[in-house]
Amino acid sequence: MSVQDVLNSLEPTVEQLMDRHMRTTKEWFPHETSPWALGIELDFTEDWVAELSPFNRAARSSLYVNLLTEDNLPYYFRDIDDMFGPDGAWGAWSRRWTAEEGRHSIAMRDYMILTKAVDPVELERARMNQVGKGEVPAPDNALEALAYVAIQELATRIAHFNTGKHLDDPVGYEMLKRVSTDENFHHLFYRDLVSTTLEIDPGAMVQAIAAQVEGFAMPGTGIPGFDRHAQIIARAGIYDLTVHVDQILKPLIYRQWKLDTLTGLTPEADQARTNMFAFIDALDELAIAQREKSAERAAARV
Ligand SMILES: [Fe+2]
Ligand SMILES: [Fe+2]
Repeated sequence: MSVQDVLNSLEPTVEQLMDRHMRTTKEWFPHETSPWALGIELDFTEDWVAELSPFNRAARSSLYVNLLTEDNLPYYFRDIDDMFGPDGAWGAWSRRWTAEEGRHSIAMRDYMILTKAVDPVELERARMNQVGKGEVPAPDNALEALAYVAIQELATRIAHFNTGKHLDDPVGYEMLKRVSTDENFHHLFYRDLVSTTLEIDPGAMVQAIAAQVEGFAMPGTGIPGFDRHAQIIARAGIYDLTVHVDQILKPLIYRQWKLDTLTGLTPEADQARTNMFAFIDALDELAIAQREKSAERAAARV
């Protein structure tokens, strides 16, 4: 079965899942999530300094990375439009998804400018730099793209939600909870689409999932200073390897997709699955070691 055949057979499921999406999601307005009263006192004549921000370093890094990740939307649209095609139910979904994603950067930017969360000049330069480069993860085929977005939407949901908790501000928390709810609905759409693909072509889907689990990178790698910020975010526990393994990979691979009990695989797919399980186990050990190191570092500081 070619990838195109699989995409064609998925079309009725895409339509069904989109109907469910439209029935279960609620309209919301980015302008209702921002603390506009703060705008009266805003003055950008002086250079921004960290003391102006109400947030700690980890929260600032997380807001910066999460917003810039959302800003790269033109490329995500290009990729899913290329991979899934612009016609029929697939095209209708890609466009709806893009419209919903667009409001995330609107809500976050308004909030971050009003609260002086980060340096607005650095933020805009980073956005110009990142979008100018157009660096985004490039899955090899449409099934890998499906696996990638299923994992990535869940990762984004958790990253936004944990950032919201870390802000210590009820307005910011509510705004990011709203964004995170959107990401969850996107995740549910792709997660269930992967489940159906596992019924249509289990071997190809398992290989695609294995490739994406082993090569997964968050979409923000083109952001200036990404590695440094990712480290700060991980140390604060907002998004680290433990979160990635315990809240994303394991629940998806074992609980949702039940890949450990899946039968009828080709020898190649079976081998890919065995390698993927070994990879997850190794990641698990690394995650435990990282958390222990963080705890020791924290204890040494007290
Ligand atoms: Fe988003
Ligand atoms: Fe999303």
